[in-house]
Amino acid sequence: MLSILRLFPPELAHFLALATLQLLYKLRVLGIFFKSHQSYQSVTLNSLIFPNRLGIAAGLDKNGDYFNALGMLGFGFIEVGTITPRPQSGNPKPRIWRISNSSVINALGFNNKGVDHLVGNLKKRNFDGILGVNIGANKDSDQQQRISDYVYCFEKVAPYADYITVNISSPNTPGLRNFHKEEEFETLISTIASTREKLLFTKPVFIKISPDEDYDTIRALVLIARARNFDGFVATNTTISRNLVADKYKNLPGGLSGELLKDQSNMIVKQLASLDSGTNTGWSYFFPQFWRSSHFCLAYKIRPLNPRCHLKQGNGG
Ligand SMILES: Cc1cc2nc3c(=O)[nH]c(=O)nc-3n(C[C@H](O)[C@H](O)[C@H](O)COP(=O)(O)O)c2cc1C
Repeated sequence: MLSILRLFPPELAHFLALATLQLLYKLRVLGIFFKSHQSYQSVTLNSLIFPNRLGIAAGLDKNGDYFNALGMLGFGFIEVGTITPRPQSGNPKPRIWRISNSSVINALGFNNKGVDHLVGNLKKRNFDGILGVNIGANKDSDQQQRISDYVYCFEKVAPYADYITVNISSPNTPGLRNFHKEEEFETLISTIASTREKLLFTKPVFIKISPDEDYDTIRALVLIARARNFDGFVATNTTISRNLVADKYKNLPGGLSGELLKDQSNMIVKQLASLDSGTNTGWSYFFPQFWRSSHFCLAYKIRPLNPRCHLKQGNGG
C-alpha cells in the first residue's frame, strides 16, 4: 500500500491514505487489523497519562477529520492542527516535495478548515488516547491580530483538548517566527497565560519552536515561558536550512523535515535539556523523529514521547 502511494504526488497520497483509513474506520474493520494500545507501557507527563509513547505530530490531521480512525491504529497521542480562526487554503500547489526516501520539504501554509470545523470534530471524539490541539494564526492577520488569533483558537478548543500547543514556528506563514523575538514572545505568552487563567485551563500548554534559533534565543524563550508557568516545548518544527539538501532542491520554499532535520532538531532538544538540568522542573519536551515520515504514508511524523527529554533511542528512525 505504501509503495503504491509513493507513485502519487505527496499531497494526493496524503489524501488517499487518510480517506482509505477513514473508509475502513467507518466500515468498522480497522479493529481487525490493528491491536489496541492497551498492551503497551503508559507514560505520565504533566498530569497526562499517555497509553504509549508513539504519537502523531501536528500537520497530518490538521482539521481533526481523521483522529478517531488514526486512534484505531494504536497511537498514544495525536496532535491535531495547526488550526487557525478562519479557514484558509494555504499556498498554491505543488507545495510538498519528497526530496529523499526519508525527508520532505513542505510549504503548505496552514491550509485548514478553520477552528469551528475542528471543534465540530472534537465533539465527536472516540479516541481515548491523548488528544492535543495545535493552534496558529491566519496568514492575513497582522502581528497584533495574530495574538488575538491564538487567543481565539485557545478559547474555542480549550474545553476539548488534553493539551494545547502554541505553534510559533511554521516557516510558511510569513512573519510568524518573529514570535521567537524576546519582546514579541513575552507579549504573546503573557496574553495566552491570562487567557489560560481566565478559562481556568489547568491542562498543559506547550510552545512549538523552530530549529533555526541560536542558544541565546532558546534560553530567553525558556526563561519567559517558565516565568509564565508554561509546561514545556514541542521541539521542533521544520527547518528553513538547506545545508544538507541536494543542489536541485535547495531553492524550494518551505520547511525541511525528516532525516535531514534530525541532528539540528536534536541539538535544540539537547539545549532545552541542558537549560532544564539541575532545576528538576518536570518540564517536558516532546520531540519528533521516530519513524521516518515515509513509513507512514507520506510526509508526516509519528513521534515518541520522552518524559524526561533523554536523547536515547528513537531519534531519527
Ligand atoms: C507536510 C507537513 C505538514 C506539517 N504541518 C504542520 C502543522 O500544521 N503544524 C505544525 O506545528 N507542524 C507541522 N509540521 C511539522 C511536523 O509536525 C514536525 O514538527 C516536523 O515535520 C519535524 O518532524 P519530523 O522531522 O519528524 O517530520 C508539518 C510537517 C509536514 C512534513
